[in-house]
Amino acid sequence: MPVPDKLVIHGGRRLTGDVRIGGGKNTSLPVLSAALLCDEPVRIENLPDINDIRVLIEILRGLGVRITRDGDDAVVDPTRLTGTSPRPDLCQKFRASYYLLGALLGKVGEGTVSYPGGCDFGARPIDQHVKGFRGLSAEVEEHADFVTARAKALQGAEIYFDLVTVGGTINVMLAACRASGNTILHNAAKEPHIVDTANFLNSMGAHIRGAGTNMIRIRGVERLHGCTYSVIPDQIQTGTMMIAAAATQGDVCIHGCIPAHMESLSAKLLEIGVRVDDQDDVIRVRSLGGHRAVNVKTQVYPGFPTDLQQPMSSLLTTAAGTSIVTETIFDQRFKHLEQMIRMGVRANVQGRVATIEGVPGLIGAPVVASDLRAGAALVIAGLMAQGNTEIENVDMIDRGYERIDDRLRALGADIRRT
Ligand code: EPZ
Repeated sequence: MPVPDKLVIHGGRRLTGDVRIGGGKNTSLPVLSAALLCDEPVRIENLPDINDIRVLIEILRGLGVRITRDGDDAVVDPTRLTGTSPRPDLCQKFRASYYLLGALLGKVGEGTVSYPGGCDFGARPIDQHVKGFRGLSAEVEEHADFVTARAKALQGAEIYFDLVTVGGTINVMLAACRASGNTILHNAAKEPHIVDTANFLNSMGAHIRGAGTNMIRIRGVERLHGCTYSVIPDQIQTGTMMIAAAATQGDVCIHGCIPAHMESLSAKLLEIGVRVDDQDDVIRVRSLGGHRAVNVKTQVYPGFPTDLQQPMSSLLTTAAGTSIVTETIFDQRFKHLEQMIRMGVRANVQGRVATIEGVPGLIGAPVVASDLRAGAALVIAGLMAQGNTEIENVDMIDRGYERIDDRLRALGADIRRT
């Protein structure tokens, strides 16, 4: 059994220079799954080189999909599917495996997918996905650890989500593409990756209008044709690099990003006293320290992203004053703070609210990453701390960040993988 990797960071160094952002994890996973719906091969470009993508490709190959990699691109040929039950053990490695249900339902009228895995923030039900599929006249059976959905003929319908759900919006949109008639999704999520997935589907000949608003209209189509599509850059990787630059009082230019997707974070960094400038696809983040405590409340897009709450918490640990961080999306998304107490952080968590008292500085310590973005938060804390920080469970971080150690080292960080 190979010993899992660790990251060792000798903190206290400023990050300076240029970094380029790769394709988005949370957009590539639905786009790759959506390729199943096509009746011809498609070429998808700018895929990130991260574990979740590798696992999804292995799952798709297990369903008879022929996928050839070409650097960051992949040619996906879904024309000869051999199965509708993706490997349960692989589906449990990440959350986005649930998109296979919507894609299989839309393509062949049936799918059996194990309940997804992914980061543990407490309960993460898929009741809204199921509600949407049933709204499209599918029969959905929920078993102990898997879900089966089947439909002789999917019928378009008006579907009202009880809450704003990224996964539910995308999953039902996938199935509705091939339903007969019109579907309207009300109270839909508006994240950039929903717009990206809709644009990909439309490039294949789907008929989707309103993605990015809270009402998405879909006219079902008989066939989807091949296309070449490049996914958008990763919003959360961009944000993580912006925060790391600020946390180390650095000066970093982040290339290949979409500044418009980062507005809620940029505004919060300005409040803290960080300089943020952007032009075209570049964001420059500079800081001379002297950060002020602020309040952060996560919201659905375009609000402050829950996936950046954890990295932002690291930055706030040395901001002067008391910061209040409120996590409105998930139940338990503060495990990183428990770990950071060992580094001298002063924080108190009550339910969905964390109170962080700024301290003059952090001290390196051995810590454990409990989930993907907690890992990113611990990396940032390690970059800030005096001395060495050892981070266990690096595979958690590799799920969503491409070679995070190489990219940070290129910016001047003293970081190595053991
Ligand atoms: C996606 O998760 C992302 N994952 C998450 O990113 C992200 O934090 C989240 O959206 C919110 O932006 C992927 O895209 C693979 P939701 P998802 O459905 O789809 C509840 C990362 O770090 N809910 O918008 O699971 C749910 O429990 C990951 O990259 C239901 O109650 O998020 C949560 O409280 C972490 N019933 C809230 O809604 C449902 O049927 C939002 O969940 C679905 C969701």
